[in-house]
Amino acid sequence: MTDHTSRLAVYPGSFDPLTNGHVDIIERGAKLFDLIVVAILVNADKAPLFTPEERLATARDVFSDQLNVEVDTFDGLLVDYAERRQADVIVRGLRAISDFEYELQMALMNRRLKSDIETVFMMPAEPYTHVSSRLVKEVFSLGGSVDGLVPDPVEVQLRAKHSRPGFRVSGDTLR
Ligand code: PNS
Repeated sequence: MTDHTSRLAVYPGSFDPLTNGHVDIIERGAKLFDLIVVAILVNADKAPLFTPEERLATARDVFSDQLNVEVDTFDGLLVDYAERRQADVIVRGLRAISDFEYELQMALMNRRLKSDIETVFMMPAEPYTHVSSRLVKEVFSLGGSVDGLVPDPVEVQLRAKHSRPGFRVSGDTLR
C-alpha cells in the first residue's frame, strides 16, 4: 500500500480495442490520482482481435503526452498485479445499469481477495455510455463508421487489420 501522499490507481481491462469511452475514464482518473496505470489483460483463453503488444503500443501512443498515465500488461489475478504495483485503487467504468451486476461481483470478489484495495467506479461522459469494444469491432467489421468512438491510432490499427487477407471478426473476437 502506498502512503496517502501518492495515490496510484490501476485501470484494468481487455481494451480490445481501446475506445474513447476508456479514454474518457482514464482522463478523469488522471485528474484524481497521481498515477493511473492502464493494465491490459493478457488472457490466453480469449481470442482477441489485437495482440497484447498491439494494444500496448496503441495505448502508449494515445497517452504519450500524459505524464501520469502509464500503460502496462498483466496476467494472473488483478489484485496481485495491483499489489505488486502498490496501487490501492482499482478504477472501473460504469456505463449503465447493465454493467452493474458484473462489476459488483468483480469488486466484491477482489475485495474478498485483498480487502485493502478499493474499487472506484467512474461514469463516462454521456456520448460514450453506449460505446463498447465489442460493438466497435462489430460495426467496423460490417463497414460502419466508428468515427469519434475510438482514438485515431486505434482506427488506423482497425483499418490495417481489416485490410489483411482472411480478416474476420469471430464471435469470440467480438466479446
Ligand atoms: O474490460 P474487461 O474485459 O471487462 O476487463 C475484465 C478484467 C480484465 C478487469 C477482469 O477479467 C480481470 O480482472 N481479470 C484478471 C483475472 C482476475 O483477477 N479475475 C478475478 C476478478 S474478480
